[in-house]
Amino acid sequence: MARIDPATQEALLERVRFYRDLGLTEFYRRPVDAALLAQLAAEPIAQPSSPIPNQDQGMGAPGLASETWDSASQTQTLHEDEATSPRRPVSAPPQVAAAVPASGHAAALQIIRDEIGDCTRCALHKGRNKLVFGDGDPNARLMFVGEGPGADEDAQGMPFVGKAGQLLNNMINAMGLKREQVYIANVVKCRPPGNRTPEPEEGNTCSPFLFQQIDVVRPQVLVALGATAATYLLGTRQPLAGLRGRVHAVRGTQLIVTYHPAYLLRDPRQKKEAWADLQIAMRELGLKLPAKG
Ligand code: URA
Repeated sequence: MARIDPATQEALLERVRFYRDLGLTEFYRRPVDAALLAQLAAEPIAQPSSPIPNQDQGMGAPGLASETWDSASQTQTLHEDEATSPRRPVSAPPQVAAAVPASGHAAALQIIRDEIGDCTRCALHKGRNKLVFGDGDPNARLMFVGEGPGADEDAQGMPFVGKAGQLLNNMINAMGLKREQVYIANVVKCRPPGNRTPEPEEGNTCSPFLFQQIDVVRPQVLVALGATAATYLLGTRQPLAGLRGRVHAVRGTQLIVTYHPAYLLRDPRQKKEAWADLQIAMRELGLKLPAKG
C-alpha cells in the first residue's frame, strides 16, 4: 500500500465521506488499493483557501431603522446550522462555464431566465405565485446568495424584499454599497412551502441555474447567506461555524460564508459576527473599512 501523508489521507477520507453521503458506498467496501488512492489523490478537492482571522469584531456598522444593522451583539449561543442544514446530500456543483464578456452579462442572464421558463422541474412550482430569478447589477463585483424566496418574494418576484431583505439592504449599505450595485439570487427560485429548507432534490434541480448566474456575473466576491447557500455553493455540507471567518474558493470567485439575515432577525446578537464576515468581503473588494473605535 502506498504511504500517504496525514493531510492527503484526511482529504481522501473527506472525499470518501462525501461520496458516502451521496449514497456511493460500494467503492469503499472494496479493498482500497494504491491505484485507487493515487487516482483519488489526483482529483481536485474543494479546499478552503487562505484562512483569514476575524477582524475587529468590536467595530460597529451604522445602526439603522427597523431591521437595524447594529453589530454590538454578544457571544454566540445558537447555531444556524441546526435550523437550516439540509439533512440529505447535495450534488457536486458543475464545471465553471466560459466567461461571458461584461457587455453581454445582462443578455446572458436573460437567456438563463428564458431557459428556466415557466418551470415545473420540481414540486416547488405547485405553490409558486412568482418565480424569483435574481436582482441587481449583472456586472456586480459582489453577489449574495440566499436560500429561497419567502412570502414577500413569491408575491413580488424579487429576492430579499421582505423583512430579511430590509436587513440585507442595511448590511449592504453598511458596507458602503447600494443594493443596485450588487447581485442577489437564491439556491431555489420558487418558495418552499412554509419557508422550509429546500429538499435536496429541489436544491439539486434548481442550483445549476444559480451556478450559471454566478458564472455569468463572475463577481469578485460571493457571500453565502446561511447554511443552505453555503452547502450548495461548496457542494458539501459542513457546520456553518467552521466555514465562517475565512475565504473559500468557489467557481473562480472568493466565497465568504455568513449568517442568513432571517437568522439574524431571530438572534440579533449574531450581527456582530456577521459584520466581521462582511468586513472580510469588504477587504477582498478593497472597500474602505470603518475606523476602529
Ligand atoms: N430568504 C432567502 O433566502 N431569500 C430570499 O429571497 C428571501 C428570504
